[in-house]
Amino acid sequence: MYMTTTAIAPTNIAILKYWGKEPGKEELSIPTKSSISFTVSDLETTTTLESEKRKGAAQEISLTLNGTRKAEVSSEHRYVDGFFRTVARFFPSVSEYDFRIISQNNFPTAAGFASSASGFAALAKALSGEVLEMGNLNEDRLSAIARLGSGSAARSIPGNGGIVLWQRGGSMWKSIAKSLYPHDYWPDLRIIYATTDAGEKKVKSREGMQVSVATNPLYGSWVRYEEKFLKAAMLEALERRDFPALSGLIMKASNNFHQICFGTYPMLRYLNESSFRIIEAIEELNAGGIKAAYTFDAGPNAVIFTLSKNEQETRRALSGIARDIRVTKPGMGARFSDKHLS
Ligand code: PMV
Repeated sequence: MYMTTTAIAPTNIAILKYWGKEPGKEELSIPTKSSISFTVSDLETTTTLESEKRKGAAQEISLTLNGTRKAEVSSEHRYVDGFFRTVARFFPSVSEYDFRIISQNNFPTAAGFASSASGFAALAKALSGEVLEMGNLNEDRLSAIARLGSGSAARSIPGNGGIVLWQRGGSMWKSIAKSLYPHDYWPDLRIIYATTDAGEKKVKSREGMQVSVATNPLYGSWVRYEEKFLKAAMLEALERRDFPALSGLIMKASNNFHQICFGTYPMLRYLNESSFRIIEAIEELNAGGIKAAYTFDAGPNAVIFTLSKNEQETRRALSGIARDIRVTKPGMGARFSDKHLS
């Protein structure tokens, strides 16, 4: 029998970063600490999954990403193969199918815009509609499955989207992401994607974080500090919708994360000249009181948080530095679609 399912999943931007897996639990992507993100409206991956009972002895998987068929030796294909292999440990019938994956992002891939988050969330969601055994998975379990593809993908699953907390959890079905507040919780919040460089990043997150855990002597202190203090402070600022307080914490968390990267050996440098110019521009904008906050993932592009009343001023501060500015807001999570890609 031949089946086709399409799912759409949004990207998410972490305000409390995930960067590292618990030693010994790497294959299950159990994180060393919790993380918090905003689900982002408009920046999405659409994935159509076609499955058919396996014909040959070996499982066949084909992957077309943004219109290009990926070679079996490409990193993307290997990540997808690894994902199916790990999922099959929990749902053995996954290995009885051949899969054809067609996936399309509406934003630049692998430049620090977390395409792996939306990509694996969409793939996990589509898979749950294809494989009978997985058909009645609840959202918590689906979030754990998405995590096996890419840690941050766990946070793109909850359907209510909005503000999502991925608890460290410690084990396969406990390390899951849940929506704390839905997408319309903070209507005047704006999330601005400021692209400085749309190229592929040099060291992929999953490799970079492994080196940080292994080599940065301050790694354990960072984990303890964020888990104990920063997380609690952020949850409180989010509950109060206190923009100035939250902004300060967002920028601290971004700085802390990049400090962990700098202290990694060999050094991980994701920020570039334009990133530092954006940091300066936001600091200037905030001189008379906080109007915006920056955060950077494993790439040079900035994501800026502001309120609608300060949107124009924030855009002006970024113009001349960023090549492309895209304004969006908190959005919904993963869902099925009946518009198949071909
Ligand atoms: O999900 P991964 O393996 O691509 O790692 C994501 C890491 C960061 O984007 C840098 C931080 C995060 O929490 O999203």
